[in-house]
Amino acid sequence: MDKNVIQLENLTKTYFMGDTQVHALRGVTYTIKEGDFVAIMGPSGSGKSTLMNIIGCLDKPTTGRYLLDGEDVSKYDKNRLAETRNKKLGFVFQTFNLLSRTTALENTELPLLYSNVHGRERVKRAMASLENVGLKGREHHKTNQLSGGEQQRVAIARALLNNPALILADEPTGNLDSKTGDEIMNIFRRLNEEQKKTLVIITHDPDVGAQARRRIFIRDGLIVREENT
Ligand SMILES: Nc1ncnc2c1ncn2[C@@H]1O[C@H](COP(=O)(O)OP(=O)(O)OP(=O)(O)O)[C@@H](O)[C@H]1O
Ligand SMILES: [Mg+2]
Repeated sequence: MDKNVIQLENLTKTYFMGDTQVHALRGVTYTIKEGDFVAIMGPSGSGKSTLMNIIGCLDKPTTGRYLLDGEDVSKYDKNRLAETRNKKLGFVFQTFNLLSRTTALENTELPLLYSNVHGRERVKRAMASLENVGLKGREHHKTNQLSGGEQQRVAIARALLNNPALILADEPTGNLDSKTGDEIMNIFRRLNEEQKKTLVIITHDPDVGAQARRRIFIRDGLIVREENT
């Protein structure tokens, strides 16, 4: 049996704004196993980002339990959440979030900069990670000398560097044309199929969602439908 990477048990999230309350999540229960590739889909305002922020240890649920890689992180304070995030998660964003005027290699090394991994080992691992996403030969290009698709590949190389339990991608193809978006999705698919990486992506785009192996549809803070391929 593959182990559970993410276990969500009856999660709720309520935002309190003065006298009003927004029930952004109203009882989400879901399990993601090692090697899964899940797309989270749903209309604007349905609670996708709220769920993503909790899964990504950027925010805490109001009630319910969240086990990440076997660890109950639901009650962790900000510092422990940040620590867990660095250790267990890799992030890919719609806007790439790379440092400008910095090379592909330097951007990729970043997650190891404050670890006790030595410089030479850091470079070796970052080079291997860049090669893994098809960027061999581009290591010393600065961010602004790379195309959008190449920048997103650097972001994926960076997300892979710590060998995280889970990679979370928020609209990873949102800023790319459809052909480049397909190339990025091919990389995700290969990482999942050949290297058994566990992936969760948020997307509005049904064509992008169709490439994941499982889809969950969220509406008004609840999972209303699941699909497996
Ligand atoms: N920080 C916040 N404070 C108060 N309400 C919030 C906050 N963040 C989100 N909400 C509300 O919670 C609900 C869910 O929002 P969320 O951002 O999770 O939706 P979403 O599915 O990501 O939407 P989109 O597709 O537009 O990004 C919405 O009604 C939103 O207005
Ligand atoms: Mg959102």
